[in-house]
Amino acid sequence: MKIRYSKLLMILIIVFQVENLFAKEINIYSHRQPFLINPFLELFTKETGIKTNVVYSKKGLAQRLKAEGENSPADIILTVDIGRLYIYEDLDLLASVESQKLINNIPVYLRSPNNKWFGLSKRARVIVVNKNKINNNEISTLEDLADDKWRGKICSRPGSHVYNRGIMASVIAAHGEQKAEEWAKKLVNNFARRPQGNDRSQVKAIYEGECEISIINNYYFGKLKFSDDPEQRKWAENVRLIFPNQGLNDRGAHVNISGGGIAKHSKNKKEAQILLEFLSSEKAQKLYGEINFEYPVNSNVSPSSELQKWGEFREDQLPIIKIAELAPLAQKIIDRVGW
Ligand SMILES: [Fe+2]
Repeated sequence: MKIRYSKLLMILIIVFQVENLFAKEINIYSHRQPFLINPFLELFTKETGIKTNVVYSKKGLAQRLKAEGENSPADIILTVDIGRLYIYEDLDLLASVESQKLINNIPVYLRSPNNKWFGLSKRARVIVVNKNKINNNEISTLEDLADDKWRGKICSRPGSHVYNRGIMASVIAAHGEQKAEEWAKKLVNNFARRPQGNDRSQVKAIYEGECEISIINNYYFGKLKFSDDPEQRKWAENVRLIFPNQGLNDRGAHVNISGGGIAKHSKNKKEAQILLEFLSSEKAQKLYGEINFEYPVNSNVSPSSELQKWGEFREDQLPIIKIAELAPLAQKIIDRVGW
């Protein structure tokens, strides 16, 4: 009887292991829209045989993951903005990943110091101006936007949006709290209208003559330039991008990241790691530019040919985690100056 019981146990273990061997399927919690990640996932499945299921939501995934605890089916989290990645780490929802590939493919300032999240693409936050009204070299830094000369000429989305909180944090990192607040106050003084809308609607406002200058993420310019809507293409034609703070001794343009991490309670950590590594690989990195006008993090990959047309730029190499750490202070300043 005893022998039969242990045999049965052995068979069960073997069956479980064999099943595990074939259970090559991972679950992704994604803040990124399906059309942005599906091309990557299709290629990934083709190359590795690992299937993917995606739960997409703009909000609430971190809370869901937390509530699910050990029973969560999530293996991997994909998101945009360092602020959101940092929240996952802060809530202790991510596993530490030991991967030489990730370390080789992703520069140190774009990943978590304890290997819990990894930047997978870069997005530059750039100045955009009416090309018929603002001359070359009239504006070259974020600091220039505080000049009285631009009174009533600048449009902005609300400061509390993560993109603006991020750029505010980058100014704090560069100049300290007091000077950063002075800058923000002057910037707000130059606004043509109450902060409103998203990045695209700032480009529209420039086209419609409400203002001449704004700050947007670089990829929105591409989305407008290649829009199916001829109106939006006109908005893009009317503006020029300025990569700020490119002077020899200056810090470079602020960038944010899209990125990912492995769920702490993932049952498929090995496969999840293979996906993260794949997303940082040269093949996938090329896709970021082609699909969404984002810049590769992998230094072996050049930006897409379209992105190259927009000009070369140097980025601020501040450890991206600083942007997340300074976000609460950035928000306080944003509230104080009424951005
Ligand atoms: Fe965006």
